[in-house]
Amino acid sequence: MGNFYKLIIVIVLIIITTALYLHKDTLNQDPGLYVGSEKCKDCHQTQHSAWHDSLHPKMFKPVENPEEILGDFDSNNPLVTFRKEDIDFVIGSKWEQVYAHMIDGEYYPFTAKWLVLTQQWVPYKVNNWKETPLSVKCNGCHTTGFNPQTYEFSEFGIGCEACHGPANLHVQNQTIETAAQCIICHADDNRHADNEAKKDIIVSYKSAVCGQCHSRGSQSVDNEHMTIKFNFPLEYIPGNEINTAFKPLTQSQDKKGQFWWGNGISKNRHQEYADFARSKHAKSLKNLKEKRREDCGDPGTNCLQCHSTDYRMADKDNKPTLDEAKEGITCIACHEPHSIDKKYLRDSVGAHKCKECHANSLSRSTIESGKPHTPCPTGQVQCADCHMPRIVSTGGTFSLRSHAFKIIPPEATEKYQMPNSCQNGNCHKDKDLQWAKDAYRDYYLQ
Ligand code: HEC
Ligand code: HEC
Ligand code: HEC
Ligand code: HEC
Ligand code: HEC
Ligand code: HEC
Ligand code: HEC
Ligand code: HEC
Ligand code: HEC
Repeated sequence: MGNFYKLIIVIVLIIITTALYLHKDTLNQDPGLYVGSEKCKDCHQTQHSAWHDSLHPKMFKPVENPEEILGDFDSNNPLVTFRKEDIDFVIGSKWEQVYAHMIDGEYYPFTAKWLVLTQQWVPYKVNNWKETPLSVKCNGCHTTGFNPQTYEFSEFGIGCEACHGPANLHVQNQTIETAAQCIICHADDNRHADNEAKKDIIVSYKSAVCGQCHSRGSQSVDNEHMTIKFNFPLEYIPGNEINTAFKPLTQSQDKKGQFWWGNGISKNRHQEYADFARSKHAKSLKNLKEKRREDCGDPGTNCLQCHSTDYRMADKDNKPTLDEAKEGITCIACHEPHSIDKKYLRDSVGAHKCKECHANSLSRSTIESGKPHTPCPTGQVQCADCHMPRIVSTGGTFSLRSHAFKIIPPEATEKYQMPNSCQNGNCHKDKDLQWAKDAYRDYYLQ
């Protein structure tokens, strides 16, 4: 055989080896595979850095640095029956922190948790920590790509793919088009034209994307030996509604009154989705399609601007018509999904003004009564202070804002022993309940 042919064979071998080498991580056409948020960083720096600084990715993590453990291990507290060195994983950071370790391949919580706000230890699952394996009770909401068969997950914390679905195909397709070492052989590929690229990753405006975790309930699975009750919806894929096999917890099951106030409004954390679903915001598109209203803004402006999230999100040239619009007001009408910690909110509702949509003196009741919407000094109190009072428990106090969008009148404090809208946060703390009842009646009920 001549040198020429040997050279050809060597070149072919080099090409094959290069292709195999470059394909070793990428060539997997399974669309259900999760790849992890690190893979998105180079191409989506804006979203990645916003997300990276938010709370979502930090929710549940292996301890890398002892400073991540916020609890006080210096003063001896009888509740704390474990050492700082025994902690392998931390859960939470803002309001409270739960600690965990691994036993026989499963994560279990330690029996005291740390309240960050009040700097206090409190008992946690002291008698039933063994019945609280985190895989079954927590991980569906604190990890990404949780697999209920193997209990494995692709990433600690809430990664990109929790909201965008498994991204294996998207990453392969996009890499073919952009990475120099792939273009060498794939330059002529035009099968990944724009259109296809869009179908390989999910962008959904539905509240269910958030509701897969910002909910409370359970989904049971029977295996050969027993029924396993997971505390979260299984294998949710963004764009869908939440699996009907997931049974949201209801007030009638809440015998001890741990999760709901007597008037059916949430009292405990991660129930935003259920409250919100019952509010008028969630029905804003349905109502618009079914009823019409003259006093609702200038009929010349498009009604969907305030009533539909897909309309608000679409760029100028692609706005849906009334028939095409699918989503009413959803979580992301107010929340910027990538930087929830730093900003919480989109600029349009920043500082809780809400006025972009609630134009025209804010509400129908204001228009009808003809008096100012509140007796309170303008500028010192914002919409959310009254309409989203802090009545939701986390970190040992009522720290979180209600998403039921209901005023809690002072009367409710008497009836249900719950905080009311008038005496919330720093407002009217110095006055007693009778004062609040009178003030409310005089202004709003006369
Ligand atoms: C090699 C570069 C590259 C990587 C890696 C990559 N993407 Fe993309 N992604 C793109 C490009 C380019 C677009 C725009 C394509 C388009 O608009 O059709 C895009 C679009 C998107 C969109 C918006 C699609 C739409 O319909 O508007 C989302 C969401 C997304 N990527 C998520 C991810 C996630 C999550 C990861 C990591 C798991 C990831 N991407 C990794 C290049 C990449
Ligand atoms: C159905 C989803 C879901 C399940 C199951 C779940 N959580 Fe959470 N958890 C959340 C959400 C969402 C928040 C944020 C608070 C909110 O949305 O109201 C949160 C908040 C927390 C916080 C406070 C975090 C902070 O930064 O202060 C801790 C601690 C926590 N969860 C621990 C647990 C533990 C331990 C389990 C299992 C026994 C568990 N959670 C089960 C969704 C869930
Ligand atoms: C909590 C859910 C959530 C997480 C986590 C999340 N996204 Fe998104 N993302 C969304 C939603 C909802 C939209 C559509 C609304 C919007 O654009 O603001 C979106 C839009 C996008 C877009 C389209 C362009 C844009 O910003 O409008 C890209 C690209 C994207 N995300 C990439 C990522 C990447 C990369 C990560 C991880 C670093 C990530 N997302 C994490 C929910 C999420
Ligand atoms: C040395 C040449 C070569 C290089 C470099 C190369 N590939 Fe390939 N690739 C091939 C060949 C040959 C095939 C199989 C023929 C086909 O399906 O087009 C293939 C197939 C693929 C496929 C399957 C396509 C399909 O639709 O079935 C993907 C995905 C892919 N390559 C991704 C990549 C990525 C990502 C890179 C860069 C990290 C890369 N390739 C670099 C030669 C190469
Ligand atoms: C995979 C589960 C999951 C998904 C999906 C998810 N979240 Fe979260 N979210 C959490 C958990 C868990 C926390 C608590 C994080 C922490 O404290 O470290 C949290 C925290 C938050 C916080 C901050 C809470 C605080 O106490 O400061 C906001 C705001 C939030 N999420 C909004 C959203 C929105 C909006 C969406 C949908 C676009 C969404 N989340 C989707 C699980 C999720
Ligand atoms: C994207 C536009 C939009 C934004 C932003 C918005 N709203 Fe609304 N809101 C509406 C629409 C539309 C309705 C009426 C829906 C219906 O009745 O069909 C409504 C209804 C309400 C109601 C009556 C709710 C009920 O269930 O009885 C309250 C209270 C309210 N909004 C408060 C707020 C507050 C507080 C904010 C800011 C944190 C806010 N809104 C931000 C559009 C918006
Ligand atoms: C500037 C934002 C905005 C625009 C534009 C807008 N709306 Fe509204 N719409 C609202 C708000 C805010 C409410 C809730 C007011 C309240 O409950 O007091 C509402 C409530 C409604 C309701 C619910 C009434 C009920 O009794 O349940 C209907 C129906 C409605 N609007 C129809 C329309 C129609 C039709 C248009 C177009 C002509 C339109 N809206 C344009 C903001 C808007
Ligand atoms: C000082 C407390 C307070 C503040 C601040 C406040 N509201 Fe109200 N709002 C009320 C009360 C009280 C009612 C009447 C009780 C009810 O019907 O829920 C009401 C009624 C409403 C309604 C009609 C509710 C329904 O179910 O039809 C809307 C819409 C509304 N407010 C929006 C807003 C917006 C938007 C802001 C901020 C610009 C705001 N409010 C600020 C106390 C307040
Ligand atoms: C009409 C606007 C609006 C909508 C829609 C909305 N939120 Fe919020 N959300 C807010 C405001 C305002 C805050 C308070 C932010 C602050 O205090 O800085 C908030 C706070 C939160 C927090 C942090 C808890 C706290 O009180 O600090 C979580 C978690 C959250 N929202 C989740 C959701 C989820 C999940 C949905 C959809 C089911 C949703 N939100 C829909 C306006 C909204």
